[in-house]
Amino acid sequence: MTNPGRLIILGAGGHAKVIAELARSVGWHITGFLAPADQRGAENLGAPILGDGVDLCADSSWIEQNDMFPAIGQGEIRWREFVRLAAAGARVPSLIHPAAVVSPSAQVEAGAVVMAGAIIQADCVVGPAAIINTGAQLDHDCQIGAGTMIAPGAVLCGDVHVGEHAFIGAGAVIVPSIHIGRNAFVGAGTVVVTDLPDSSYLKATRRLSQFPAME
Ligand SMILES: CC(C)(COP(=O)(O)OP(=O)(O)OC[C@H]1O[C@@H](n2cnc3c(N)ncnc32)[C@H](O)[C@@H]1OP(=O)(O)O)[C@@H](O)C(=O)NCCC(=O)NCCS
Repeated sequence: MTNPGRLIILGAGGHAKVIAELARSVGWHITGFLAPADQRGAENLGAPILGDGVDLCADSSWIEQNDMFPAIGQGEIRWREFVRLAAAGARVPSLIHPAAVVSPSAQVEAGAVVMAGAIIQADCVVGPAAIINTGAQLDHDCQIGAGTMIAPGAVLCGDVHVGEHAFIGAGAVIVPSIHIGRNAFVGAGTVVVTDLPDSSYLKATRRLSQFPAME
């Protein structure tokens, strides 16, 4: 993790709010946020909206004086912004919440975030701009591809490989040594026991309507 200094956050929605709190908790000063007007919610961000992402290169002093972090929940947009930051020569840190447990042998790449309560065990690799969300668990030797989201409370047993730009839903469980392809989508609460090819979609089969009403 880079030594904290001044940080500009790309995005101004719910995910950006969480990133800002996390960054402040490990010592970053938030200079402000960049977001298009239609993505600015009524969030209490505690720092100004400086402009939108297009303004980024108009004022080179921003990139010289600040690190930058892509804080957009939607994976495709987050990845696009991360690539744009890298091309502009911006410094992009990784962020790890102080209440996360990350093995000293694990690697967390630039633009990736590890949220509160997450646990990352020995020799895991978290790719650039990936999100390990609140309380998610990665056991030993997991590899998480670039731009991928591991949603809150998901459990990846040892040696699970998840490709680039995939989405593992909240509370999903992936048994050991499974490979999940790039762009795959795993719904919340799904248990994955076989490899999944690229761009596959898997959702738990339980449906509320299949349970009889209480007498
Ligand atoms: C899978 C998902 C995308 C919804 O898929 P969908 O096919 O569009 O589902 P719908 O909302 O149309 O619901 C269709 C049926 O599937 C059920 N269903 C929806 N999601 C389900 C899930 N994760 N597991 C089991 N059943 C699910 C619904 O109850 C509904 O059942 P019914 O037909 O008996 O009423 C969504 O539920 C999901 O899991 N999203 C991930 C959420 C998440 O983890 N977010 C983390 C943010 S950080």
